[in-house]
Amino acid sequence: MHNWFHNVFSSRIGCGELKKAGESVSLAGWAFRYRDQGGLVFVDLRDRTGIVQVVFDRSSLGDAFDAATHIRAETVLAIQGKVRNRSAETVNPKIATGKIEVVAEKYEIINISKPLPFQLDEFSEAGEEHRLKYRYLDMRRDEMKDTLIIRSKLNQAIRQYLEKEEFIEVETPILIKSTPEGARDFLVPARLSPGKFYALPQSPQLFKQILMVAGLERYFQIVKCFRDEDLRADRQPEFTQLDMEYSFVDEEMIIKSLEGLWSHVLKKVFDVKVKVPFPSITYQESMENYGTDRPDLRFDMKLVDIADIAKKSSFQVFHKAIEAGGRVKAICVPGGAVLSRKDIDDLTAWVGQDFGAKGLAWMKHEADGLKSAVSKFFTPELLEEMAKRLKTKVGDIVFFAGDRPHIVNNTLGNLRLRLGKQLNLIPDEWNFVWVRDFPLFERDPDTGTLHAVHHPFTAPRPEDLPILNDPERFKKEGHTILSRAYDLVLNGTELGGGSIRIHDKETQSTVFRALGVGEEEARQKFGFLLEALEYGAPPHGGVAFGVDRVLMLLLKKGSIRDVIAFPKTQKGTDLMSDCPSPVAIEQLRELKIRSTAEAKDTQG
Ligand code: AMO
Ligand code: AMP
Repeated sequence: MHNWFHNVFSSRIGCGELKKAGESVSLAGWAFRYRDQGGLVFVDLRDRTGIVQVVFDRSSLGDAFDAATHIRAETVLAIQGKVRNRSAETVNPKIATGKIEVVAEKYEIINISKPLPFQLDEFSEAGEEHRLKYRYLDMRRDEMKDTLIIRSKLNQAIRQYLEKEEFIEVETPILIKSTPEGARDFLVPARLSPGKFYALPQSPQLFKQILMVAGLERYFQIVKCFRDEDLRADRQPEFTQLDMEYSFVDEEMIIKSLEGLWSHVLKKVFDVKVKVPFPSITYQESMENYGTDRPDLRFDMKLVDIADIAKKSSFQVFHKAIEAGGRVKAICVPGGAVLSRKDIDDLTAWVGQDFGAKGLAWMKHEADGLKSAVSKFFTPELLEEMAKRLKTKVGDIVFFAGDRPHIVNNTLGNLRLRLGKQLNLIPDEWNFVWVRDFPLFERDPDTGTLHAVHHPFTAPRPEDLPILNDPERFKKEGHTILSRAYDLVLNGTELGGGSIRIHDKETQSTVFRALGVGEEEARQKFGFLLEALEYGAPPHGGVAFGVDRVLMLLLKKGSIRDVIAFPKTQKGTDLMSDCPSPVAIEQLRELKIRSTAEAKDTQG
C-alpha cells in the first residue's frame, strides 16, 4: 500500500490540468461535491490546480465500489484512473476540465472531514467571523487560494525586478529598541534583562538608514511591520511593507525608479498597463482641491473656495466661520438633486458625528437657479456668481461647509468620496498620483504645537533651513517648511511613502530640537542612528509600500483581511488560534511582569 501511495503521489497530475481522453492518471485531492446515483458515484475532485469529475462505477469496480458511497464533502482521496470524454449532454462548460471525466480504477479514502461549518463553493455567503475561525477551510475556496497565489507572484515579481536593479535583500531585526515612530509600539518583555523590553518594529526605518551608512547603497526587504493602532479596513496590527532605501539619490531618481518597478510588477502580475510617469500634485493643491492628502483623482468634483461670496451674503454662520479664521468651501455634486431631505439629513448627521461639522448647508440647482432654505441669505446676483464658480447645472446639488480649515476639508473631502461612490461618478481605472511637497511639521489645530508629519528623519528642503535654524522664525513660520517627502496614492488610498533623509547630525539635532525632543531624549531613543550619521553617512532616501494595500486595491477587495492568509479582526484578535490569550502566571513570573489590568479595574 505504501508503494501504491508513493506511485500515486509521485506521478500525480493536477485535477485542473487534465485535458486528453485516453490517458491513465494519478490524482489526489478533496471531494468538493459528490452525487450518489446508486451504482454510480460522481465526485468533483479538487486540488490546488482546479476540479475534475471522477466517476466511481460499481460495474467496473466490483466490491471496491462500496467505499465510494461513503465519500462526503472534503473527503481526501487518492485515485488512479483513466480519462475519458464526457457525453455531449454532460459537458460542463463552467469548469476547465468540463469536457472530460476520470473513471476510477483504484482509489483510497485517505481521510474524512467533519461536516463543514460553511459551504466552500463560490456562492457561499459565510460570515467573516466563520471564515476567519476556519481559515484553513476558507483558503480552500478559489477566491482565497487565487489571492494567495497572486500575492506570491507579486513578491516574486518585486524580487525579480529589484534584483535586476542591484538591490540587496537584507533582513532587519524583529526584536528592536522601542523608538517612537508615530504609532504605538508592541512590546516584548526581555527575560534576560528583567524589567526591560524589546519593541516590534513599526518599520525598519532606522536599520535601513544604517544599512546606507554601512555602504550597501540599495536595500530592499519584504517585511512584517507592527503597529498597535486602532484598526480599519485598510489597517492591520501586523502588515507587510515593501521597504526600500537608496544612497546617492534625489527625489526624482527615486520616483523614476519606483515607476519602473510598479509598471513592471503590475503588467507582470495583474496584466494592468499603467502610464508612466505618474502625475504629481502638491500637498497644498491636494488639500485645497480634494480636502485630503490622498486624493482620488478618478473624478473631479473639487472643493471650491467661496468665502468671498459668503462674505457678501447675510448668512451669519459663514460670517462667523470666516471671522474665526476659518474657511468656507463648497462642492457641486453632478446629478445630486436626486438626494431626498432624508438623504441630506443623514449626510448632515454623518459629517457632524465623524468630522465635527456643525451643519451642512446645501442648494439644489433647479430650473430657475440655486434654491434651498439658505438661498434667501444670498442675493440673486450672488447665487448666480456661485453657480458660475461651481459650474452647476440643473439637477446638481451644492454642499457647503464653513468652519475651521481641517473640519471643512474633512467634511467636504469625505462627502465627495461618499457621494462619488453612491452616485456612480467614479470611473473604473487605475489612477496613480504622487503627492509631493508635504509640510515637515503640522500644527495641532487645538493646541497650536508643531509635530512632524512624517518620521523625524525626513529631510527639509534646503531653502527652508534658515527658518529651521532660527527659533524665533520657527515659532511663527515652522508650519511653512516643506519636506522632501513623497507619497504614492492609488485611487484615493496611500500605497506608500518615503523621503530623502537627513544625513548630517546637525540638521537631525535641529529637527529634534524643533520638535521639542531634548538632546538627552534624542540620544536615548535614536542615539545609535545619530551616532552612525557621524561616521560618513551618504545622502540617502527611500520609501515603503503597504503590500497588503496594493493587493487589496488591485484585486478590488473591500478589506486588507481578504489578502492576508491569517489576518486579525478589527479588534486585533485571531479567531482561529484564539489570540491574544491569557498566559500562565509562571510565564509572567519568569519575565518579571505583573499585569496591571486588574488594578486598573478596581481603581476605575
Ligand atoms: P509609512 O508609515 O507611511 O512609512 O508606511 C508605509 C506604508 O505602509 C502601509 N501601512 C499599513 N498597511 C496596513 N496596516 C497598517 N497598519 C499600515 N500602516 C502603514 C501603508 C503606508 O503607505 N518607514 C516609513 C517609510 C519611509 O520613509 O521609507 C514608513 O513606514 O501603505
Ligand atoms: P441653521 O442656521 O443652524 O438653521 O442652519 C441653516 C443651514 O446651514 C442648515 O442646513 C445647516 O445644516 C447649515 N449649517 C449650519 N452650520 C454650518 C456650517 N458650519 N457649515 C455649513 N453649513 C452649516
